[in-house]
Amino acid sequence: MAKPTTRFLCAECGAAYPKWQGRCDSCGAWNTLSEEAVPPRAPGKAGQVAGGRRVAFVPLKGETAPPPRIATGIAEFDRVLGGGFVPGSVVLVGGDPGIGKSTLMLQAAARVAERRRTFYVSGEEAVEQVRLRALRLGLQDAPLGLAAATSLRDIAASLEAEADAALVVMDSIQTVFLDSLDSTPGTVSQVRACAAELSRLAKSRGFALVLIGHVTKEGTLAGPRVLEHMVDATLYFEGDRGHQFRILRAVKNRFGATDEIGVFEMTERGLVEVPNPSALFLAERRGNISGSAVFAGIEGTRPVLVEVQALLSPSSGGSPRRQVVGWDSGRLAMLLAVLETRCGLSLGQNDVYLNIAGGLRVNEPAADLAVAAALVSAAADRPTDAGAVYFGEVGLSGEVRQVAQADARLREAAKLGFSTAILPRRVARGRSAPPAAPEGLRLTEIGHLADLVASLAAAPGRAKGGAA
Ligand code: TYD
Ligand code: MG
Repeated sequence: MAKPTTRFLCAECGAAYPKWQGRCDSCGAWNTLSEEAVPPRAPGKAGQVAGGRRVAFVPLKGETAPPPRIATGIAEFDRVLGGGFVPGSVVLVGGDPGIGKSTLMLQAAARVAERRRTFYVSGEEAVEQVRLRALRLGLQDAPLGLAAATSLRDIAASLEAEADAALVVMDSIQTVFLDSLDSTPGTVSQVRACAAELSRLAKSRGFALVLIGHVTKEGTLAGPRVLEHMVDATLYFEGDRGHQFRILRAVKNRFGATDEIGVFEMTERGLVEVPNPSALFLAERRGNISGSAVFAGIEGTRPVLVEVQALLSPSSGGSPRRQVVGWDSGRLAMLLAVLETRCGLSLGQNDVYLNIAGGLRVNEPAADLAVAAALVSAAADRPTDAGAVYFGEVGLSGEVRQVAQADARLREAAKLGFSTAILPRRVARGRSAPPAAPEGLRLTEIGHLADLVASLAAAPGRAKGGAA
């Protein structure tokens, strides 16, 4: 039987199918399959793994120096990388088109270029365009090697000739192509082959390689997810177009922690570091408004305070709306159920809108208590104490549970001038003592969500029953 010459690959996750189908079974994405040529493969033979060389097994403990780092000097960037680029490693920087990936990488590359040989290969823009951007960013004098190219063969030949390259940025991986492959640039086969070839070059030449990749929903370009397993670190550059904040988040990092974030502000002259994100996220907070509570969160190694906003409006029949921006909607549903069942606060007749102000995405269950406070405050139409921060996880029976790094959260709250922290009951865990209150901060411990409801307001559901 003749071997099929084409197959269908999902641009999101790279899964292969013999026939077209509307939805990818592997990742669930719709309309992401596209037809691509099957690469020729040498036929396998039985016993083909015979004749190998013996590898030595070694103990876990050994003399290994930490990898050397090429720091960019942009602290927010370096922290996310785990201290800077590791020579020979491959970093994927993904994000929506227009979010600022090229700007960020041009700024970082220009900084590295001051000390080490750095190249920026643009497949997206012409040399003139990149020069204009550099001029706007005030980087025109940086000794950066710039080229506009898309042919992998040309790019590889040019990099082979640069023995002292320390950092190479490829913007973007979806524009490069290998002419020996039959598919168009941006397809899964091209993106994979080009990334593999560039990584091989980076490893053999010892330069750090950055691949910029667009995340697209349309599936016309292969998403960075098909590359995630091939690279050493994956960073996502995210943010809301309506906001000037941009967040660089590590989702995979072989050389550092994965929950680190770097916060930037977008300006006319490019991305500016935000060393104190709490102050920025709280800058536009207005006191004395119901439905708002400040959450003392932790992002990576750093405490970050953000405002949680809740809005309730009478539902116009049918099933009530639940809209969430910046938090997990499943978690909101759980909290609403706990508030209703354990605390007698029914919001079933209301549409509920929840928003993390400033465009940050919060992933911690520790935000439960702040979200609950915002909801209860909105329901009672009474503002929470403007000088209070909240943190704590809520369990299904309504109990408020301890969360990690309470000390760091409290210190940040005190530093920003908050006077009260509402937190879970402190008990010594293992050998660590319960956190002490930093100076100027009063601690209010809460054991059960009902205590919070009672302290913020006489809950409507309870007040009626209790009045008898
Ligand atoms: P760009 O870096 O081109 O985004 P991407 O490479 O992710 O597609 O940035 C998009 C636009 O935003 C571009 O026109 C420049 C503008 N911009 C600023 O004016 N200031 C900034 O700080 C950033 C990041 C972008
Ligand atoms: Mg770009």
